[in-house]
Amino acid sequence: MAIRSLICVLILFSTHCCFPTLAVVLKTNDDAPWTNEFESIELSCLIESISTTNPRIEWKKIQNGEPSYVFFDKKVSGDLENRARIREPATLVITNATRSDTADYRCEVTAPNDQKTFDEIIISLVVRVKPVVPKCSVPNSVPVGKSAELRCVEDEGFPKSQYQWFVNKEEIPDDPKTSVRFLNSSYMLNGETGTLKFTVVRKEDAGEYYCRAKNDAGHAECGPQRMEVYDLNVAGIVMGVLVVVVVLLCITLGICCAYKRGYFANQKEAGNNYKVPAKGDGVDYVRTEDEGDFRHKSSFVI
Ligand SMILES: *[C@@H]1O[C@H](CO)[C@@H](O)[C@H](O)[C@H]1NC(C)=O
Ligand SMILES: *[C@@H]1O[C@H](CO)[C@@H](O)[C@H](O)[C@H]1NC(C)=O
Repeated sequence: MAIRSLICVLILFSTHCCFPTLAVVLKTNDDAPWTNEFESIELSCLIESISTTNPRIEWKKIQNGEPSYVFFDKKVSGDLENRARIREPATLVITNATRSDTADYRCEVTAPNDQKTFDEIIISLVVRVKPVVPKCSVPNSVPVGKSAELRCVEDEGFPKSQYQWFVNKEEIPDDPKTSVRFLNSSYMLNGETGTLKFTVVRKEDAGEYYCRAKNDAGHAECGPQRMEVYDLNVAGIVMGVLVVVVVLLCITLGICCAYKRGYFANQKEAGNNYKVPAKGDGVDYVRTEDEGDFRHKSSFVI
């Protein structure tokens, strides 16, 4: 038994070591590379062993389960044309990556003169995209004791953006209990969705708020927006002022109505009735008289 296994080991050893098998074998330096958008990246496909001198090399892109040619018949094709090239032996170099390049890529090498004539290797590329300026919504003013919701959204970033909120340039911690400054605040912060929600707003929650969207590729912020917090006494005063304004409006309207219905108009109409016929009768006469006056005056001045 021992001798038989020894022979087996010897046979295995000899075929794998001393007489190299004729097989194409691929390997990669990195099977999950990433890059930022508009930068370059290489998908390494190295040939570890091969006997065929002129192997056939192909690259396919696999997106949503659908393969399409990237490198075929010694040419780069598809949307990577002019943006990618092959570096010996089989590495694919993308010079200006775009977000649509995020996919699996398969390097396939066919070596007809080898015993094992084919090998392939899959590389998952991620192209990171910086967030754009997020859309932020902050309520202008909230009464003390009511709830308030601040929202922040950004859809371009890849991987998906995470969110941070700041008030008066100070970062708001995920959990208010972790900071003396925010200890008594009632907010809940969701860094995944960008929502900052106060269940009970306090006067101390007033301030300039802004949000930052960030991912591995970078970050972007919206401009600060002021959230006022007013208490109900102020609300009372505002209501009082409103009542006064309404009363004044009513008085004004009343005067207008009275005017329209003729309370003031009677006297005026009487005046008009008196004037109109006078004007119609003696227009020419009055004008010449005026002109005469004018000439007389101007000559007098000269
Ligand atoms: C990369 O591509 C983008 C658009 O696809 C273009 O605006 C940019 O100039 C390119 N950069 C380089 C270095 O070619
Ligand atoms: C939080 O509330 C407690 C009790 O109401 C008070 O003593 C403390 O000063 C408050 N802290 C801050 C930072 O406002």
